Amino acid sequence: MTAELIDGKAFAAVVREKVRDRVATLAPQAGQTPGLAVVLVGHDPASEVYVRSKGRQALEAGMKSFEYRLPESTQAGELLDLIERLNTDTQVHGILVQLPLPSHLDERKIINTIAPHKDVDGFHISNVGMVGTGQDAIVPCTPLGCMMMLRTLHDDLRGKTALVIGHSNVVGKPMARMLLNADCTVMVAHKSSTNIPELARHADIVVVAAGVPGLVRSDWIKPGATVIDVGINRIAAPEKGEGKTRLVGDVDFDEVRKVAGAITPVPGGVGPMTIACLLANTLSAYCHQHGLADEPLPLDEQDPK
Ligand code: GUN
Repeated sequence: MTAELIDGKAFAAVVREKVRDRVATLAPQAGQTPGLAVVLVGHDPASEVYVRSKGRQALEAGMKSFEYRLPESTQAGELLDLIERLNTDTQVHGILVQLPLPSHLDERKIINTIAPHKDVDGFHISNVGMVGTGQDAIVPCTPLGCMMMLRTLHDDLRGKTALVIGHSNVVGKPMARMLLNADCTVMVAHKSSTNIPELARHADIVVVAAGVPGLVRSDWIKPGATVIDVGINRIAAPEKGEGKTRLVGDVDFDEVRKVAGAITPVPGGVGPMTIACLLANTLSAYCHQHGLADEPLPLDEQDPK
């Protein structure tokens, strides 16, 4: 078997186009354009790239983008004041504070200061709690992108056995909660788990966000399973020349694709979906703030094929 390749770039393009179309329809009705505020503290190179991309894609979707770049030395009070201002700014419908924050700042306190209805990352404790209890809430962008892809591949997720590898607050935990809300049977493994290959062999769906290049091997995978690789790891690529690098995921892609039924590549799999889902979350937040119907995007629906 050679697995179907799940084209995250194409998926993301569809989501972005739908968001753009809806913004073009709704903004004249509401008399206001959706606005996304992105806050970056410090100069982490990866964060700089993400923040630039988030701002650019918001503009391309017809939204307003407000970027706040603060120095590494920013004190908590200053950042909290900015968030409070954005919370009450009627031009801003979504607020995102790029993580990681410098170590002198208390990430939890900062995130929990964002108004929950503007928390387009879905990281505020009230959104986390709502998703954890199966209520409608803003959900984190990367797991939302994974769910959209899974829903197009599986007519019915109910009763599927899913293994999530990694238990971060950004991906693993919300991913497990969302799979559970879809009535999957969910297992969660992490770096202290001793039997991951054994768990994986029972899984119809494997989602891995462990940050370990090539962790998931082909003999872990049940034939025909769906494998979603959230990992993005830069490794040395001497075959491309001295000092060269390349991106790989957490899955041994060349081997696992011979066994799996469907698989996301890295790059070009889950990655592009994250910002597309951020735009979708910003649109949802805007709709709620304007009392507009927030219809699901096509890829959110149960059977969008
Ligand atoms: N850093 C890495 N991923 C994310 C994300 O999804 N949201 C935010 N705010 N920071 C991140």
